[in-house]
Amino acid sequence: MPGKSNPTVVNSWNEWDPLKHIIIGKADHSCIAWPEPALDAKVPEDSAMKGMNGPRPLETVEKANSQLDHFVDILEKRGIRVDRPTPIQWNRAIGTPDWQANSMFGCMPPRDVLLTVGKEIIEATMSYRCRWFEYLAYRPLIESYFMEDPKMRWEAAPKPRLTDRDYRRDYLNEKIGVEKRLKWTAEKYFVTTEEEPLFDAADVCRMGKDLFVQHGFTTNLKAMDWLQRHFPDHRVHAVNFPGDPYPIHIDATFVPVRPGLCINNPNRRLPDDQRKIFEKNGWEIIDAAQPAHTSPPPLCYSSVWLSMNVLIIDSKTVCVEASEVNQMEQFDQLGFEVIPVPFRDAYPFGGGLHCATADVYREGSCEDYFPKQV
Ligand code: GLY
Repeated sequence: MPGKSNPTVVNSWNEWDPLKHIIIGKADHSCIAWPEPALDAKVPEDSAMKGMNGPRPLETVEKANSQLDHFVDILEKRGIRVDRPTPIQWNRAIGTPDWQANSMFGCMPPRDVLLTVGKEIIEATMSYRCRWFEYLAYRPLIESYFMEDPKMRWEAAPKPRLTDRDYRRDYLNEKIGVEKRLKWTAEKYFVTTEEEPLFDAADVCRMGKDLFVQHGFTTNLKAMDWLQRHFPDHRVHAVNFPGDPYPIHIDATFVPVRPGLCINNPNRRLPDDQRKIFEKNGWEIIDAAQPAHTSPPPLCYSSVWLSMNVLIIDSKTVCVEASEVNQMEQFDQLGFEVIPVPFRDAYPFGGGLHCATADVYREGSCEDYFPKQV
């Protein structure tokens, strides 16, 4: 298989250095999860998914896998090594001494679970009960990286208890309304409490020595404290994005595309006080292009802003979903080579091109892009 002969190196410090090795998820056995506090708060109130649960229809799984496989081909043809997780039967009841869940979720979005910082891969705590065991799908890969790269560091963040104390009861109300949600999220009153460290890896945006971490439904401040203590040579910054009624995962909201330039969802702007570090270091933050679609595909957890959920191959080359004409044009105007990748059939399984991947190796080292701290 192209690229398979590359020796295993774990190393990735940011979102834009030249990509050499990546993991792409699989849709097999994916489920729509049963009700649980954090997930219920995230599924939009008007979504057709409310009240649905269990295995996703087989024909949708096959379509998603076909687009995922095609994405693999595109990257392999460019000499990038691609590995795949080992799906388990997600449609199985699970539990711990503290709780039980009727099914798990899936392993299409490795970005949510695996955080690569330099030579280390961390399995995130996760914040939904149905995702507690998702790391198992990646263990065969992680174990092989550990054996093949003697300098690779393998870490699992503290497994959370995920008792009811982790979740705000106010969010259990079926009908909150978007207005109240926007007020709450602007006030940083999220569904997750500060009971224990909770984070999804997709809330962490890696920019060399600085990690910008979205405070929202899936990541709390205690997790940022854990990350800061875990990476004492890094600087961890909490960011939040008023305007998003369902704030999870930073990569459809704030995306660095090369050193000095980020695109920001114009409906979810980075607050002025949090922009200062970018301004002081000469970074530009521009509005992302408008999505080409007015609604997500059926049975999708995410918003239309998966348009900006792109995979940067290097600071001049980017993969963009093939129907996102506005986002492709914006990258073209910014001087990028744009690789269109059909991917909307995979969106319902956990997100776009960035969500569906997790970095193993990008060339480059840990640089300080923000020497002037605020
Ligand atoms: N947080 C992903 C989205 O915008 O849907």
